[in-house]
Amino acid sequence: MNYNVFPSTLNSSEIRVPGDKSISHRALIFGAIANGMSSFTGFLPSNDCLATLRAFQNMGLVISHDNTNLRVHGLGLKGLKNSSMPHDLGNSGTAVRLLAGLLAAQDFDSTLLGDESLSIRPMNRIIEPLSLMGAKISSQAGCLPLEITGQQNISDINYDMPLASAQVKSSIILAALYSDEQTIITECGITRDHSERMLMSMSGPIETKKSKVLIGASKSLEPIEMQIPGDFSSASFLIAAFLINKNSASLILKDVGINPTRIGFLSIIKLMGAKIELKNIGVFGNEPTADIHVQSSNLVGINIDDPDLISLAIDEFPIIFILGAYAQGLTKISGIDELRFKESDRIKSMTVGMKCLGVSINDTDQGVIIENSEFQGGIVDSFGDHRIAMSFVIAAIAATKEITVKNIDNINTSFPGFKDLMEQIGVNISLHNDNSSTTDAPK
Ligand code: S3P
Repeated sequence: MNYNVFPSTLNSSEIRVPGDKSISHRALIFGAIANGMSSFTGFLPSNDCLATLRAFQNMGLVISHDNTNLRVHGLGLKGLKNSSMPHDLGNSGTAVRLLAGLLAAQDFDSTLLGDESLSIRPMNRIIEPLSLMGAKISSQAGCLPLEITGQQNISDINYDMPLASAQVKSSIILAALYSDEQTIITECGITRDHSERMLMSMSGPIETKKSKVLIGASKSLEPIEMQIPGDFSSASFLIAAFLINKNSASLILKDVGINPTRIGFLSIIKLMGAKIELKNIGVFGNEPTADIHVQSSNLVGINIDDPDLISLAIDEFPIIFILGAYAQGLTKISGIDELRFKESDRIKSMTVGMKCLGVSINDTDQGVIIENSEFQGGIVDSFGDHRIAMSFVIAAIAATKEITVKNIDNINTSFPGFKDLMEQIGVNISLHNDNSSTTDAPK
């Protein structure tokens, strides 16, 4: 399916974005191994989270799920059952990597599969530390499918992370809950800490000290009740829409998660001159929240090269590329190679698409350089990557002509209801069923 998006004038709006994807996965995963029923509101019923939900149902977990309300009847650390079928985790890197850590410590075998994009994403980053802990995992040259041999001899590890990844960290944390001794993970960069926060709220055996995460042997996790905040990454698309919008319309986004390990985008757009404010600061569970107020802004290009800031904004670079083209002067971004291993090679997907639309963008040895340019009308492929698709929809709002964004179906992996929200803020967007000239994802 494709979206045709016309240049549009936005309406002042007050909206709620769907629940946080990372926290929704963790609600299912940690809820499954808690002792008793956990209840969550604001769950994200997106394809990625539903893939995790189905995997747990296949392992005997009872989950009552009514759209955004979720009740997980936790089975305790050792209550999951053998699934009669492989787990198909669709497009979700978070699901496959976190589940690998958990399943490596169960007494039954498991197979993990995914879609075409997930099947070429690197899995050695989890296989290596989990194997050092005694896990038995075989892969197809470091990619899916993963065959996990059940066993219950997971040992502790003192692991210096070679890359900044919350998925790898969380995979090790889950396996470490099954070891008798303390595991210590030392991070080389700051990554999202939703696993640590959720385990702490379940009275789990976890402590954090600067760049270290310490996990003790767990006897049991307490069930929790929690409202899941709005997803800051989904919010970033709406924020960007109002920043580049030409009239004085303003946006209020209610109850968005502002966990400090997630909001690098906020720091970046403030440096670019965004008029944005956080109000009504609160807390849901162990996660800070706020209402975000945004107005149209004259953006200026900046240099982005601080590894910590990059890690805190890791999912927001596609939309930051778009803002770079709308900003006066040059935007230079370096140290973002990790983007090559996401749902598509995001540097390539964005460079190809933005060039197609007349933007001056170059992927050089010094990083990506984006010059202030007008977006012309045209056709771009999202290569099946949800965040690339949404970024080009936003680019079209202030373009000179209509933009067609191809291959948009995967927007449902993270942002169900995206089109409705776009219409609500005033975007002229229509859905078309034509994938005739689909190209392969840049690898
Ligand atoms: C996620 C971690 C990030 C992020 C992904 C979700 C998570 O990946 O890109 O969308 O929920 O842990 P890495 O930690 O591998 O960079």
